[in-house]
Amino acid sequence: MRTCWINGAYVPEAEAAVPIFDRGLLFGDGVYEVAAVMQGRLLDADLHLVRLARSLREVGIADTVGAAQWLEVMQALVSRNGIVEGLVYLQVTRGVAERDFVFPQGATPTVFAYARPKRVSDDPNAAGVAVHVTPDLRWARRDIKSVSLLAQVLAKEAAKAHGCFEAMMHEDGVVTEGGSSNLWIVTDGAVQTRPLSSKLLAGITRDVVLQVAAEAGIPVRERAFTVEQARGAAECFLTSATNFVLPIVSIDGHPVGSGVAGPVTERLRAGYLARARALTAG
Ligand code: PDD
Repeated sequence: MRTCWINGAYVPEAEAAVPIFDRGLLFGDGVYEVAAVMQGRLLDADLHLVRLARSLREVGIADTVGAAQWLEVMQALVSRNGIVEGLVYLQVTRGVAERDFVFPQGATPTVFAYARPKRVSDDPNAAGVAVHVTPDLRWARRDIKSVSLLAQVLAKEAAKAHGCFEAMMHEDGVVTEGGSSNLWIVTDGAVQTRPLSSKLLAGITRDVVLQVAAEAGIPVRERAFTVEQARGAAECFLTSATNFVLPIVSIDGHPVGSGVAGPVTERLRAGYLARARALTAG
């Protein structure tokens, strides 16, 4: 059985439980992070932990673990569970208290983490995925990696019902994000993605891909684009910690570009993988 970590202890999965009064359960009052594992090592965990600290600050939950211990815990879960390629998930909630909307006095944050295997370097989806266009129903602070994910649950379920891997969420026709990814298009050889604001998550992969593109001499535009522009783009792709860079080859059944992974997307995936391999090597 898998070993998980909760409130300071490594325990078998079946014993990793929270009380029904946990505010994560009652209110979605918590934040989380997901980092990839390659070659048995964490990828960019430091960057994910900086974002975790920011999310915690923004919602006023104390950082009772801290980056150094989180790193130790995350790596221990990778080792104890024999993960070579996969992910580590961690979550912090405001803790356990009688149900009342306002912050509880003296509650201790609930902290837990687990690891799971997933193919990341030879992802079977690397040939390209389909997306389904759906309205973005989320709240206005999408820069906080909150566990209140009902809108994304509904968006991704709608995508699945349409035989698609991911949702392309939009507001009034302007693409916001994927259900759990940042979205990009390629036009005239330049890559384009929405600029950062409180209306989207500052993806760690997004940031790294911007660097990979710059180093490869690929022009970058941080500018919003519409669903129509995505449909007419030469290429389209998504980025996230566990999917890296995945080509989007169809939007609501219409092929993007030639309907197969495009050359710029392929270069970015290869560049991202090379960096990931180097960072997680021996
Ligand atoms: N999701 N946008 C949203 C809405 C996300 O949920 C995610 C990540 C991203 C990409 O961020 P990053 O590159 O830091 O993973 C963008 C994670 C993987 C998840 O919920 O499982």
